[in-house]
Amino acid sequence: MKILLIGKTGQLGGDILRNAGGHDIFAPGREVLDVTSRGAIESVIGDHRPDVVINTAAFHNVPQCEVEPLTAFRVNCVAVRDLAAICRDAGCRLVTFSSDYVFGGDKRTPYLEDDRPAPLQMYGISRLAGEHAALSTAPDSAIVIRTCGLYGRSGAVSKGGNFVDNRIADAAKMRELEMSCDQVVCPTSTDDLSKAVLALIEHRRAAPGLFHLVNEGECTWYEFTKAIYEVLGLDVKVTPVDRKGLSGTMRRPLYSVLANGKAAFLGIRLPHWRDALARYLKA
Ligand SMILES: NC(=O)c1ccc[n+]([C@@H]2O[C@H](COP(=O)([O-])OP(=O)(O)OC[C@H]3O[C@@H](n4cnc5c(N)ncnc54)[C@H](OP(=O)(O)O)[C@@H]3O)[C@@H](O)[C@H]2O)c1
Repeated sequence: MKILLIGKTGQLGGDILRNAGGHDIFAPGREVLDVTSRGAIESVIGDHRPDVVINTAAFHNVPQCEVEPLTAFRVNCVAVRDLAAICRDAGCRLVTFSSDYVFGGDKRTPYLEDDRPAPLQMYGISRLAGEHAALSTAPDSAIVIRTCGLYGRSGAVSKGGNFVDNRIADAAKMRELEMSCDQVVCPTSTDDLSKAVLALIEHRRAAPGLFHLVNEGECTWYEFTKAIYEVLGLDVKVTPVDRKGLSGTMRRPLYSVLANGKAAFLGIRLPHWRDALARYLKA
């Protein structure tokens, strides 16, 4: 399959590139394809004629989206609308990403694809708008994948490094730290996610629409941090703190675990987060 990958320097993009053997991948950097430039998208898709465009680009520094809502909408919604329209007109599929933050966090069981979104902050609002932009512009050819808490070999630059690597760096500097125990999430390895994304686009029966793809299981960031230190045998005291989902005045969902409902129906399954974490730390 001929794939155009956007975001090769990112965590997910990096792992898609590493795991996509057998496919013909073209992965230009942002200097060639900035998703906020409609002209650049038209020119690259026109020149390369991909079968599938995978867009991993996003403006996803959550507090910064409150400060720069127009940038959040430009990247997370308007660019996705442009990509969907250009892909539709060129006859290629679009795979783009969204977030667990489209949900409000009132549930206590994993969110299914058709549960009602209720974003709590500008980031989640811009992602939900992007989902609608993709699926209403290209209803016959766009796939939107919601995921959660990513970590991978190329740590998320926009978030200042990935969560796992940052906790390892903390352990080199301190013997005890506080970690929030209020948010329940499903941390997800981009190695596993990238393989599931590729399985989805290779699947004959994967219809356009919304999919959830996350590692199985759930935990708080406090439990995840404890697991990192347990696997590595590091002696760091972790104290749980309940921030009630608040960063200043900005709210985060208290529960945003996703259920891989539609993917599981196609036989696409991701391992448990503990298994994924152990493999990441071993590598
Ligand atoms: N990280 C998480 O915890 C998390 C959680 C839920 C959902 N997601 C979603 O999953 C997807 C992948 O996340 P990730 O963690 O792999 O992201 P990441 O590591 O931050 O990588 C983002 C990639 O997008 C590129 N990019 C950003 N703005 C761009 C633009 N305007 N034009 C072209 N390229 C641009 C970046 O390139 P540069 O190197 O040039 O910056 C980078 O290669 C995103 O949609 C993200 O929002 C992530």
